[in-house]
Amino acid sequence: MTKYIYHKEILPSVLESLQRFPEEIALIEGFPSQDYVLNDFLSHIGNAVHEHLNEDSGSIFKVQVHHKEAHFSSYANSNLFFPVHTDCSNYKEIPEYVALLCVTPSIEGGESLFVKLSELIQELPKPLLAILTQKHWAFGNVYRPVISLIQGKYSICYNRITMESYTDLTQDELHILNEFDDLCRKLTFTLSLKANDLIIFRNDLLLHGRTDFPLHAHRVLKRVRLYSKN
Ligand SMILES: [Fe+2]
Repeated sequence: MTKYIYHKEILPSVLESLQRFPEEIALIEGFPSQDYVLNDFLSHIGNAVHEHLNEDSGSIFKVQVHHKEAHFSSYANSNLFFPVHTDCSNYKEIPEYVALLCVTPSIEGGESLFVKLSELIQELPKPLLAILTQKHWAFGNVYRPVISLIQGKYSICYNRITMESYTDLTQDELHILNEFDDLCRKLTFTLSLKANDLIIFRNDLLLHGRTDFPLHAHRVLKRVRLYSKN
């Protein structure tokens, strides 16, 4: 992880470290909480994804507990443990970056979880790595391998909740994913965000998730997904 304290001239160093150390999480402490500051800063890193789920269909999604009648509006809007995953796994093109600005942390739980792709590749038994790079899985209407190797560069797309929501997986497939999940658990590291911590990380090189937290904790994060400009 590369750590910074926010000041007005911080952008060039953050850009440089995201380029030079793509698998490292950039953490900027003391980041201003205003949306316009966040949007302006991130516009230099990538093109934000605008989604109808976001406030005013803009680029910022508030990750907080939210109900629609008796159900959570989405998994991100629950207080449940969120296993490590790739955001937008069912998109044709996966955004390369995810930025999370902590507005209010939960006093208990709600820690961020991460797994690095390079460590997964190092630790995966060869036969399992071969399956994960060759077999195409359904992520909604998009079929792709969990791990791709394109022009010598690995990338990952994994979201077990999405994979199981769209498809009835066979016992063999479940067994493969269970083995993969076991390794993810072993390689997971934790980050506890404080108010005004902004983290920016590669969505295609790290899996991320979170631990559960009390339903009435008022945990709030602002999330922006970005397509790389390169
Ligand atoms: Fe996510």
